[in-house]
Parts: sequence; C-alpha cells; structure tokens
Amino acid sequence: MKNRVLIIGSGGREHAFAWKISKSEKVDKIFVAPGNGGTENENKTINIDIPPNDTASLIKFSKSKNIDLVVIGPEDPLVNGITDEFNKEGINCFGPTAEAAKLEGSKGYSKMFMKKYNIPTADFSTFDDVDAAKNYAKDQTYPLVIKADGLAAGKGVLIVEDYESASKIIAEFMDDKKFGEAGKKIVIEEFLTGQELSFIVMVNGNEILSLATSQDHKTIGDGDKGLNTGGMGAYSPVPFVNKELNEKILNQVIKPTVKGLKNEDVYYRGFLYAGLMIDENLEPKVLEYNCRFGDPETQPIMMRLDSDLFELIDNCFKDGINNYPIQWNSKVALGVIMSSKGYPESYESGFEISGLGNLNTNHLKIFHSGTKMENEKILTNGGRVLCVTALGDDIHKSKKLAYSAVDKITWKGKYFRKDIGFRVMK
Ligand code: AMP
Ligand code: GLY
Repeated sequence: MKNRVLIIGSGGREHAFAWKISKSEKVDKIFVAPGNGGTENENKTINIDIPPNDTASLIKFSKSKNIDLVVIGPEDPLVNGITDEFNKEGINCFGPTAEAAKLEGSKGYSKMFMKKYNIPTADFSTFDDVDAAKNYAKDQTYPLVIKADGLAAGKGVLIVEDYESASKIIAEFMDDKKFGEAGKKIVIEEFLTGQELSFIVMVNGNEILSLATSQDHKTIGDGDKGLNTGGMGAYSPVPFVNKELNEKILNQVIKPTVKGLKNEDVYYRGFLYAGLMIDENLEPKVLEYNCRFGDPETQPIMMRLDSDLFELIDNCFKDGINNYPIQWNSKVALGVIMSSKGYPESYESGFEISGLGNLNTNHLKIFHSGTKMENEKILTNGGRVLCVTALGDDIHKSKKLAYSAVDKITWKGKYFRKDIGFRVMK
C-alpha cells in the first residue's frame, strides 16, 4: 500500500517538500494545505483550501482521506500545538509539540534554556517593562540587537547603532505593539560578528540525524544591508564547515540541546534548526532556534538530497534515524528569492508572472513561495514570490545558472538580491 501525505503550509519550503516527496516510490498522493501555484502543478500533489491554523478541519480532512503522515512546514501551527492535536488522534505528525516548539516560539525562553544548558549564545537580558529596557539600553555598547520575544516572521529582530534608535525601537515594540503580543516582552542582546550558518538536523527523542549545511541571506539588500526578511537566498553546502567545526556544533550545540530537552521532560520529534554565528576562530554561537526547516534553506537542501524524504521522515516514528544512510549530491545548490517590491514592508500582490515556462530541468527548479494559480495564470501572492534554485559543479556555476533563470522571469515590481553566495565567493 502506498502512502498519503499531508503537508501544511504555503511557502517555498512546502513546495520543495512536496516536490521531493512526490519522487518517493512509497507515496502516491500528497495534499498541501493550502499550498501555492507551484504545489498546484506538482506531480501526485493536490492543494486543499484549509488554512494552516485550522487544526480541527485539518484533522477532519486527514481522517476522511486516511492520511499516513502529516508534515508541518511553518512555525505558527507548531507553536500553537497542532502536533499535540494530531497526536491525540493517533495520526503521525512530524514536527514538535507546543511545549517543544517554545524553543522558537519564545526567544526569552530559548535564551534561558541555552544559559541553563551552557549552550554558547550572545549575552542578553529580557524585559517586559519599557522603562527598564530603555534604561538598560543606555549603558550598552553599540551596535545592539533588539528582539521581539514571540513569532514575527523573521522581522522582529533589529540591530541598532545608538541609544536614540534603541529607545525608538523599544517603544515601537512594547508601547506601539508593532508585532502585537509578540513584542510585549523583548530580548536585548550583544551584537555578534562572523558568518551565519543554518545547521538543521532531524530529531527523534534522543536520536539526531544531521542534514546538509546551508547559509541564508537574511536582509533585503545586497551586502547584507537593510531590514531583516524571512530570507532572500541560500546555498548548500557551506565550504567553511570542516569536520572539526561540524563536531564542535554537534557537541556544543545540538547534543546539549537534545539532552536539555530530555532533562526538561520534553519529547522533540521534528526538524531542529540552529541559526548560528561562526566567528573568525570557527567558534559557534546560537542566534536562534527554529523548530522547523528553514525557508529558503529547504529549497537548495532538497535539491541536494538524494535519499527519499518520505522514508526519512517516516523513519522518525521508529528507532534508529541516527543510523540512516543519508545520501547527498556533492554539487552545490544555490537558491535566489525573487520578491515583491516593498517586501519586507508593504507590497502589492496579484501581478501575473511571465517567463516561467520550461525552465525546470534536473539542474534548475523554480520553487514557488507567494504565488497562486488563477485562470491558468500564475500570479504573485506574497512578499517572497519564487526561489529560483540551481545545482552546479561549484557555487559560481550554480549562481550563474540561477541568475540566468531569474533574468527570464518577470512581473511588475520584481526584486531580488544580486549577491547570493557572496560571503564564500572570491
Ligand atoms: P534571529 O531571528 O534571532 O535569528 O535573528 C534574525 C537575524 O538577525 C539573524 O539571522 C542575524 O542575521 C541577525 N542577528 C540576530 N541576533 C544577532 C546577534 N546577536 N548579533 C548579530 N546579528 C544578529
Ligand atoms: N531562513 C530563515 C528561517 O527559515 O527562519
């Protein structure tokens, strides 16, 4: 009997999951709730019009279609406890419970957790009082990092250069509620320098399986300038991660995290993403945890994954995932996000995208993020619209291939960074 999978989410990550799972011999049907214009056209895949936070309808749907495996893409449903609800119904749901997802859902909690378990991270203080936060900011060295405690789609972190800006941001977060309840509490932390690294693993209780390394480009502008976004492009693997650094990350970050969860009596099953800063001495510090796969990291990583993604996830419901013989393509994958003009602030949607025809090959895949299909046309439907992902013999070749496709795709107000991969390119 072949399996039926339900993927929850509507971004590029979910398109990449659907695309990869559709290649599994063990799967004959994939539903994506709600999906996008890309998943709508993927093999074996059907979009269903249920929002990611409508847990009751998702459970009802899963029962009616005899779903064997549910894979949760985004963080909100996880933090809101979707896995707990599927667990009650006895349906296999891949992603941590609400309690385990607090590692991403509350930055204050995750910082306390790291402190308790001696996991390297930036020095910090947390505040729920605006005057105390402003007073603290007065005596700090700048730049300084201000973070909303709760979920803010990657946009709730600001780096400020002086006290005046810090005080303005603190007021915006805490008094003006720019991010609603998410900014009621804030974390103020030391500014770290170095290179960022996305280190993503699969966890099943005590067991850990490392996935390929990747590096995201978080800000909107070239040269890592401007506002933070959900991510404007990523590549895999990251060349500076040698064996020694890999071991260091496992021993200083990943293993202590998994052990700490166990010590807190929290069972974690799902992807676990450590967002790291690596300094010039190749010492890692954790910037944040995510309780899910990264977007856009998923897109290049899935391009390189030669193993069966369904099998990998399904094996996390048994013992022994740490011994899975995972296979990677040795080429370099690089994905460029094409976004709507104005993102990550306000932008317009609904523009027809042209130039998409016949671009996909074994070495190039256009993953959709914010798109929808209407009357046979693909329209923009979000801030991040596409992730053009190429596989090449080296990063230069994959970059060239990705950007040659970016140039062929157009809509009114398309925007993209021109320098994805620049930190490791001469
Ligand atoms: P976070 O959501 O906490 O990962 O923060 C989003 C982005 O802000 C990170 O990917 C970094 O680019 C930047 N960032 C966060 N914390 C720091 C820090 N302590 N020092 C420097 N940059 C940071
Ligand atoms: N690309 C960053 C994230 O998924 O949080």
